Amino acid sequence: MADGLSKDKKSSLKMLPSFVRSTPTGKESGDYLALDIGGTNFRVLRCSLNDGQIQTNAEVYPMSSEVMTGTGRDLFAFIADCIKSFLQKYDIKGSNIPLGFTFSFPCTQHSLNRATLITWTKGFTASGVEGEEVVQLLQNALAERCPDFKVNVAAIVNDTVGTLMASAYENPKSVIGLIIGTGTNACYMEQLDAVEKWTGDRDDPKQVIINIEWGSFGDHGHLDNIRTGFDREIDEHSLNRGKNTFEKMISGMYLGEVVRLAALLLVKDGALFNGNAGDKFNIRESFETRYVSEIVGENGAANAREILKDKFGIDASESDVDTIVKLCNAASVRAGRLAATGIAAILLKINETKDRIVAVDGSVYKKHPTFAKIMSDTLSELIPGNTISWVLADDGSGVGAAMVAAVTKV
Ligand code: BGC
Repeated sequence: MADGLSKDKKSSLKMLPSFVRSTPTGKESGDYLALDIGGTNFRVLRCSLNDGQIQTNAEVYPMSSEVMTGTGRDLFAFIADCIKSFLQKYDIKGSNIPLGFTFSFPCTQHSLNRATLITWTKGFTASGVEGEEVVQLLQNALAERCPDFKVNVAAIVNDTVGTLMASAYENPKSVIGLIIGTGTNACYMEQLDAVEKWTGDRDDPKQVIINIEWGSFGDHGHLDNIRTGFDREIDEHSLNRGKNTFEKMISGMYLGEVVRLAALLLVKDGALFNGNAGDKFNIRESFETRYVSEIVGENGAANAREILKDKFGIDASESDVDTIVKLCNAASVRAGRLAATGIAAILLKINETKDRIVAVDGSVYKKHPTFAKIMSDTLSELIPGNTISWVLADDGSGVGAAMVAAVTKV
């Protein structure tokens, strides 16, 4: 992390200054629009902040893989069309309503509302966006597709930053924003003195939220001693080869595939499914992370049996079911322990191990029944006696962008 904050040392952690310098006071108020892109859905929200209360109207627009992997022009046209239909549905006409844009990819931030995409992650490859200024692309698409609506993009933020900000609105003890969803990443408030590469002013408040981009930890080989053949295979078949090593061991886009590949090795050895997994189980990414969540929870064995039968046409024996449950648990424990290790490293860096909050959002954290416990147990092993609370910042990645827009206005 220290290398990433320096001017010229190399680090696999990008440590990107977010330009967000203060957390909310809880007194912010007003109406804001928020956009949230970064997983499998695009969302538009209207957030009304009123003295510590947040009210939201939100619409979810599923994104096809054609949109994610086509041209940037089509991707932003899709976004603009969704915004248009949202504005119509909620009869929003105002041209000055401030908009916060949660864009959950690694970006070099130039100011609070200007950011250049460094590289796509999580299965996005839309052409002509890497290296471009994202707010400009949004504004161009809006000018073309809904010209009556004059946007005022007040902020573009990473989802981790949004999560930390949304949580801080309700609880000032929040110090870290964490996402365990399709991808994974964390951010934290850093003292400007520690950010050698910071080029902005060094006035008060002498702090800035740093988007770590921890998904790419390991890209320089630091995780090689614990990577498995399954991890290497996932990487080889991914759209971003050689990148986001840590993310590929943790997040929802990959967790089910880790289990599937481990299971296939046992099938090959004749130790699972009588040595024959059938066609469906052999399809890449067919074992989705949501199945892992169903299998590690209550009634896990029964769920495993049902999933194997219904989704894969496999009549599993007792011992097959037992093995699948064990594999799902093992992959989950590994993912949770790695994520908690990252959190421990941040807490030790900022010297905050007592009475602080890690704000968490993301589909895996919300749906996986044991992930939260695995992380907190691991943190207790790594930092005995810590009194850190893990708090779900539900919808933090959506509301947070509105929060940043609000804090800027105040
Ligand atoms: C992106 C991060 C994002 C994380 C969680 C990663 O793939 O690079 O910017 O915060 O996913 O959505």
